Order: sequence, then structure tokens, then C-alpha cells
Amino acid sequence: MQLPTIQRNNYALRPWHPDDAGSLVKHANNPSIARNLRDGFPYPYTLPEAKKWLDMVGKNRDDLILAIEVNGEAAGGIGLHGLKDVYRYNAEVGYWLSEAFWGMGIITDAVGVMVEHAFTQTRWLRLFATIYEHNHPSMRVLEKNGFKKEAIHKKTVMKEGKLLDEHLFALLKEHWI
Ligand SMILES: CC(C)(COP(=O)(O)OP(=O)(O)OC[C@H]1O[C@@H](n2cnc3c(N)ncnc32)[C@H](O)[C@@H]1OP(=O)(O)O)[C@@H](O)C(=O)NCCC(=O)NCCS
Repeated sequence: MQLPTIQRNNYALRPWHPDDAGSLVKHANNPSIARNLRDGFPYPYTLPEAKKWLDMVGKNRDDLILAIEVNGEAAGGIGLHGLKDVYRYNAEVGYWLSEAFWGMGIITDAVGVMVEHAFTQTRWLRLFATIYEHNHPSMRVLEKNGFKKEAIHKKTVMKEGKLLDEHLFALLKEHWI
């Protein structure tokens, strides 16, 4: 699934390229990012990991996986991952950004762009995200885009040796303005 490059005020959304590996390592190699994501996003984030991930993204035709470019470098990522079978009208939203650019409103804006794309250009009717209990900035990003907290899954995540609650946020197309 593709989307043309979208240039915003202080960042751009664009496809990933194989030559993003260096900037991916530079910006993704951070335990403060990895602790909020699934274990497939490792710490340390090495060059071989980056190349393997970029290769996988290059072959993926089902999901919408974009780089967030800031100051000419791939400094983050955002994606919509479609579910299958009876869940095929759902897509999971995921994102991360280089710590150097946190608090500038970039992810709030990028989630808004992806929501609009999902609800105007795809079949998806429900978008959702699951957030670990300590990740208040990410919950705020979703709330600012109209997502509602639907559930707290108690002690379902094992991360850094601790069991964590996970907060499920969702947005229905029929509630999207
Ligand atoms: C979560 C993350 C994506 C946010 O990106 P960002 O571009 O910095 O987010 P924004 O600047 O758009 O918005 C962050 C909001 O959280 C708020 N915030 C920051 N720290 C906060 C805290 N401790 N408690 C509550 N809100 C907080 C900000 O004030 C802002 O809200 P506001 O505009 O109402 O003031 C980024 O911190 C990140 O990459 N974290 C690591 C990976 C991650 O958590 N990914 C999501 C997994 S679900």
C-alpha cells in the first residue's frame, strides 16, 4: 500500500528507502523508544537490524509503513497494519519518533494524516492502538486525534522484566470528524 510523499510544516511522510539504514540506527537506537514498543523494535538497534527491517518493509504490500523525515533524515516511523479474517476492517496504528524531536507536535499531526488517509482511501472502519501503562504522551497523541480508551488489559505485557497493563484506544470511522 502506498501514499505519495506528504510535506508538512516541520516534517514529511514518505516511503522508506534501503539507504535510510544509517539514519534509522541513529534515531532508533534509544532505550527510551524501545521500552514503549514490541520486542521486534530492539535495543540496541544495530545496522544489521535496520537493513533487515528495511528489506522487510520493501517487500510488504499489505500495510502502510512510512518514514517520518525531519531535517532530511528518516527520524521516525508510522504505520497502519491491517488485520485479517473477521477483523479485516480494523487496522493497528503504530509510531515512534527520534527523541530529539519529541514534544513538537509531529506525531499528533502524523496520526491525523494517517487517520484521514485510512478513513477516506481504504476499507478500514476502525483504527486502534495499544499503549503501555506508563506512556502518557502516546495516550495524549491518540486522544488529541479523537481516539477513545476502550479497555485496560491488566498485566498483559512483559517488558523489561515487568508485567504491565496495556491501554486499548480506538477510533471508529463513524465517530471521525
Ligand atoms: C509517544 C511519541 C510518539 C510522541 O511523539 P511526539 O511527536 O513527541 O508527540 P506530540 O508532540 O505530538 O504530543 C505529545 C503530547 O504528550 C504530552 N506529554 C508529554 N509528556 C507527557 C506526560 N509525561 N504526561 C502526559 N502528557 C505528556 C505533550 O504535552 C503533548 O500533548 P499536548 O500537545 O496536549 O501538550 C514519542 O514520544 C515517541 O516516539 N515515544 C517512544 C515510542 C512510542 O512510545 N511509540 C508509541 C507506542 S504506543
